[in-house]
Formats: sequence, C-alpha cells, structure tokens
Amino acid sequence: MGDINQGPIHYTGPQDWRGPYMAKHPGEWLYHWTSNEIAEIELAADSVADLDILDITIRDFPLPTIEATLADIKSDILHGRGFAMLRGLPVDEWSMDKTARVYWGLGVHMGLPVSQNSKGHALGHVKNIRRDMEKATSRGYERTDRLAFHTDTADIVGLFCRKPAKAGGDSLIVSSTAIYNEIARRRPDLAAVLMQPLQRSFVSENPDDQNRLVDVPLFMHEDGRMIGHYVRGHIYKAQALPGVRLFTDEQKEALALVDSIADDPAFFLDMEFRLGDIQFLCNHTILHSRCAFQDFEDFGERRHLLRLWLACKDGPILPHWMINAYDSGRANGRQDGYHRRSIPLKVPLDAE
Ligand SMILES: [Fe+2]
Repeated sequence: MGDINQGPIHYTGPQDWRGPYMAKHPGEWLYHWTSNEIAEIELAADSVADLDILDITIRDFPLPTIEATLADIKSDILHGRGFAMLRGLPVDEWSMDKTARVYWGLGVHMGLPVSQNSKGHALGHVKNIRRDMEKATSRGYERTDRLAFHTDTADIVGLFCRKPAKAGGDSLIVSSTAIYNEIARRRPDLAAVLMQPLQRSFVSENPDDQNRLVDVPLFMHEDGRMIGHYVRGHIYKAQALPGVRLFTDEQKEALALVDSIADDPAFFLDMEFRLGDIQFLCNHTILHSRCAFQDFEDFGERRHLLRLWLACKDGPILPHWMINAYDSGRANGRQDGYHRRSIPLKVPLDAE
C-alpha cells in the first residue's frame, strides 16, 4: 500500500473535508461583515481614491479593527479548510472604481496580487465577453459554460461578485486532499501515478510560451500536507505540443478518477454567489469549478466577478516542482501567475 517515501496514504486535518458537511455548517466558513466593518473598509478605500490602484499597499489601506479578523480568515484559507466566503459588502452602491479599490485593499491584506494572464492583469474580470468558444485563446473566465474542476496558478484565488448571473453560475469547490485520500483508498496504484509529474502548457497565455512545458505532479507530499496542482486545461492542451510525453493508460485512468470524484456530490460544495460576496480559496488544497449560467444580453448587466490571484509568503511550504515551474524571483518564492518581465502589471476596470 503506497510508497512510504511519498507520505501517508490518508491525510487528516482540516484540509480533508466533504461538501455535504460544509453545506450544513456555513458558520465555519461564511463571514458576515458588520456595518462598522463596512464603514472602516469604505473609509480606507476613500483615502486611496487618488492613488494608482496598482500602487496601493497594505500600509495605504489601514483596517485597524478588521486586521485581526482578516488574519484569522487567511490562516484558515492557507492552513485550514482552504476557503472562506465574506458576505455583505454594498457593492451595488459603489462605482466600479471604488469597488476595485475596496477589493484590492482587502486583497493586499491577504497577499501580493500577481498576473492572471498574458496581458498582465493583476485585477481580473470574470465575465462573458462572447469570444469564439473554439479559439485556443479563450479561457473559461471569458465564457458561460460549465468549467471542469481545476486549480489556478497562485496561492489564493479570490472572486468578488459585482453582478450575479441571471440564473446559475454557482461556484463549486472540492477538497483536493479528500480526493487524494479517496483515490489512495480505492486505487493506491493510481494515487502513486498521480504523484509523478505531468506536463502543462502555457499555450493560450503568451506567444513566447507556445511550446513551453513544465513538469508538476498533480499530488505532492510536502511538510506533512498534500499539495494539489491541477491546471487541467493546460495539462490536456500540452498533449498536442511537440516533444510532450503522451499520457499512459494509467495516467488517463487516474485523471478520469480525479474528475469523477471531484464531480461527486458527496465531495463538492455548491456555493451560491450573491451580490457583494467575496470568496477566497487556497489552490493548494481546493479544486474549483463553476456551473453553467444564463447571462443578461446587456453587457453592463452581465455576471461580473472581479478576481485576484495572490502570492502569500506565509502560505504552505511548496514542493520543489512548484518552485521550479513558477518562481519568477518577484513573488517571495511563491507562484507568480503568468508574470513576464516584458509585460507590466495593470489593473483594468472592466473586461478587455
Ligand atoms: Fe480557475
């Protein structure tokens, strides 16, 4: 049963959770802002109204009474169950500019915003911009269809709901630690396969990266924790690149098993996005997905989530695979998203 050098075959601890339990215990992960806290956040945002958003640091955005709460939430995200939902910001009363300042200010209390795409977006917009679905350059955040479970390329991903969908569009999340435990129980042979490196591409993100491949296993044992990394679309896209190692039959079976456990309602949690909700997830222990949704025709009314990818120097110790693949030298040894020295970071105020 398993290889002792690869760690235990069952990981206990708060990262190992099931969706139905969490659905019954929202008090563990759902935080409601008080009116005093909202006033404090608004005051901080108004005080940086004249700064370039990209330049706003934690020092510019003081949150004296909320700081300790945010630190607890962050600790739960990075070293506990891996997710939280913060509810109740009156985003419908705010301009896009103020909304972006609030989100950025809360974000810099959690980590360092990093680039989410080849345009250098440090603040991303998850919105249906009706791109050609077949085009290799279209990423899931620009469409309305169901997404498969996956991870992003940063310690934390945050989504802030500025406009909910007309219908659908719930966020689905699942513990990758629980998936590993289940695979190790059912098929220890496939658990071992998933601890071997898979190649991922960067095809859609940067013309300079057309044929770039990096090796990272889907499951990595590190510091007593199970670190998951499943940039699913890019793992499959890599299969078409020259020089790639084609999936073995065992790898195909193992990847299908990951997908089928993630898709099992006994494992995932369905989270509704309400106006003003902020969801933070740790990519190392959570896979995320989204239900298909119906959108409004009017571009200004469409489902619109603001996204942050955050590098957290106090995050879990990362396996050498992750450091080799993603350390740019800029983000304290953490994953630096899609950062390229030639592409400056920017903070757009709508999808582009
Ligand atoms: Fe994602």
